[in-house]
Amino acid sequence: MDHFSFINGALHAEGVPLATIAAEVGTPVYVYSRATLERHARVFQESLSGLERTHFAFAIKANPNLSVLSVLAKCGFGADVVSGGEVSRAISAGMKPGDIVFSGVGKTRGELQAALDKGVGQFNIELEEEGIVLSALAAAMGRKAVAVLRVNPDVDAGTHAKISTGMKENKFGVPIDQAGAIYTRLSALPGLDMRGVALHIGSQIFDLGPLEAAYAKLGGFAMDLRAQGLTVDRIDLGGGLGVPYKRDEVPPPPADYGRMVERVSKGWDVTLMFEPGRVIVGNAGVLLTEVIWVKPGVTHPWVIVDAAMNDLARPAMYDAWHDFEAVVPTGERMVANIAGPVCESGDTFAKARDIDVVRSGDLAVFRTAGAYGATMANTYNSRALVPEVMVDGDKWAIVAHRVEPETLIAAEPLPDWLLG
Ligand code: LLP
Repeated sequence: MDHFSFINGALHAEGVPLATIAAEVGTPVYVYSRATLERHARVFQESLSGLERTHFAFAIKANPNLSVLSVLAKCGFGADVVSGGEVSRAISAGMKPGDIVFSGVGKTRGELQAALDKGVGQFNIELEEEGIVLSALAAAMGRKAVAVLRVNPDVDAGTHAKISTGMKENKFGVPIDQAGAIYTRLSALPGLDMRGVALHIGSQIFDLGPLEAAYAKLGGFAMDLRAQGLTVDRIDLGGGLGVPYKRDEVPPPPADYGRMVERVSKGWDVTLMFEPGRVIVGNAGVLLTEVIWVKPGVTHPWVIVDAAMNDLARPAMYDAWHDFEAVVPTGERMVANIAGPVCESGDTFAKARDIDVVRSGDLAVFRTAGAYGATMANTYNSRALVPEVMVDGDKWAIVAHRVEPETLIAAEPLPDWLLG
């Protein structure tokens, strides 16, 4: 459920006509709905309210916009981060350093040190050597870093290969059959306070079965550690819940997820940690675009829009589907291909899609663009970096400016020996 709906035949974000935003900010532009963000945050938290101790860390890679993070911080979310830049963003948006979980398979020594300096609450260790280095850095400060070990449970999440992370051939976590020995050795280090285990098996997961299997495996492993006298008081269950990208898709209801977690974690007696990304922000954003041309094609016309693969990379990267809708639909339909202006055939959002009839100059949206949208944008073909707007009732504001090519050009100095 989201707050993008038609009022008098025109698509609105909450109380604001998208046409108003396009007229004032230009296109392409991402538009987020605060009410939708808050609703998704609340539904997710409520689905897990039967659990005794929980910690919610929004995976900010899904949408690191400061205003989005600020809304979620007010909803009680901390952050799951994977880089020094994300640590800085989470803190800038008002998240408490102690509520930040630092994940990621390639944290540099510099990033580990900076995170210790800033008081990041938990480190999710991905390999033994990282733990040894983190221990040395923390011990040198006379401290112990709170950490958990990310375990690779070798479970197929049943999602796209490029967003699967929990199979043994993936780069993430330590193999579950070696994790016990590694956890034991890390627990003995002077600069680490080993508190438990973590996993994350993939993203856009629709079937709760693999999640439950992975959680059960991780829980069983954690209880074995505890039986050996090791401390285990946190289990981080990662993120991964899918969202509907097509109008008729039915994702797993949050309540079913909550019941599954309650069932599988019975008796663990730990703080359960969650790192949702997409499920919180996915349907809280659209990418608003203008049709530049409708170009005749051999089989179907090409609707060429002013958004491109550099603004929304998901279709080009994962063959992802995003619903496309006219902002003021006429009621007529057509079958068309939809593409952006970038000089690659991969810059195609849809092929042979049944869509609203659109003409040159019409506005349209790609739906479900709030997660992994603007955050993955780039400036390929020297296009501007796409701006972002947030709507709150009938108010709206630019929450990320368009970065024009002129600004990017100004950041590229020519060496002396090329001048003249
Ligand atoms: N925790 C960890 C350690 C992760 O690696 C991720 C996502 C999450 C949590 C959040 O997962 P979510 O709840 O959003 O599924 N760019 C891809 C998705 C990449 C996900 C990477 N990791 C896409 O556009 O589909």
